[in-house]
Amino acid sequence: MGRFLGPDNYHQNPDDKIVQHELRATGKLPKHIAVIMDGNGRWAEERGLPRAAGHQAGIVSLRDVTRSSRELGIDFLTVYAFSTENWKRPKREVSMLFRLLRKMLRDEMEEMLENGVRLNAIGQINALPAIVQQELGEAIEKTSQNKGLTLTLALSYSGRWDIVRAIQSLALDVRRGKISPEDISDDIFRSYLTTSAIPDPDLLIRTSGEMRLSNFLLWELAYSEIHVTKTFWPDFRRENLYDAIRDYQRRERRFGLTGAQLKNAITANEEKVPREQKTYVERLISTITGGGK
Ligand code: FPP
Repeated sequence: MGRFLGPDNYHQNPDDKIVQHELRATGKLPKHIAVIMDGNGRWAEERGLPRAAGHQAGIVSLRDVTRSSRELGIDFLTVYAFSTENWKRPKREVSMLFRLLRKMLRDEMEEMLENGVRLNAIGQINALPAIVQQELGEAIEKTSQNKGLTLTLALSYSGRWDIVRAIQSLALDVRRGKISPEDISDDIFRSYLTTSAIPDPDLLIRTSGEMRLSNFLLWELAYSEIHVTKTFWPDFRRENLYDAIRDYQRRERRFGLTGAQLKNAITANEEKVPREQKTYVERLISTITGGGK
């Protein structure tokens, strides 16, 4: 543990188990949570510490959020760890971030294996230093059989980069005659994104109060609920995650439908109307809300 931090000797206590149980009982949990971890630098500056201390403290937050998400039964957690724009930061900060990432991969491996966490990465991975690519690849491989939470690190990632890259591959497939332009649909397009194997996020959390997407998951966040908190990422803990989930559970996700259509569809879903008797909208909602077969 870093010299600026207290010991990380957290063990889940009975009270926390009760809170998690209540969250599960109160409403639907998001299947996929995406996080813009922001405010590491300001957290450090407020304390008169170097920025590195903020990033180091941010790893403790990431550990607690990953643990608690897994305990809750969240399937996917995707975090913005290094954006395409972050390459413009001072060289020293960039190398320090990669050193921290490598240390994190080493330090967290045992726990990831014990808890069934599957590591994944999206972004321009081949732009990362060779040693980072190698260690990241090894960590992904080691956890590839895990069946619990999928933790995706967005590294040298930006939403526009991924969309442009997807369009390039799609255009190549059109040129090769594999697909015709009129067959391109939402679903086909999304299959070209680096996130094609994971569902779109239900909830986006952004820390440190900024109201921006900052080029994160631009396609995937189309219908996500957004929770912004003023808390800096190094101060963000499971209690803040629970607040974000409670906020999510209070929202009515309408996917462009009217409130009445949504209510009808949900009632129909609850009454377990046989699939063949459901209208298109009811089946759609049933699928969206996770009740459909
Ligand atoms: C934003 O804070 C955070 C980052 C650019 C990196 C986030 C990284 C971690 C939490 C550590 C785990 C990941 C890696 C790659 C080791 P900021 O520096 O933009 O904060 P500021 O806006 O207050 O300056």
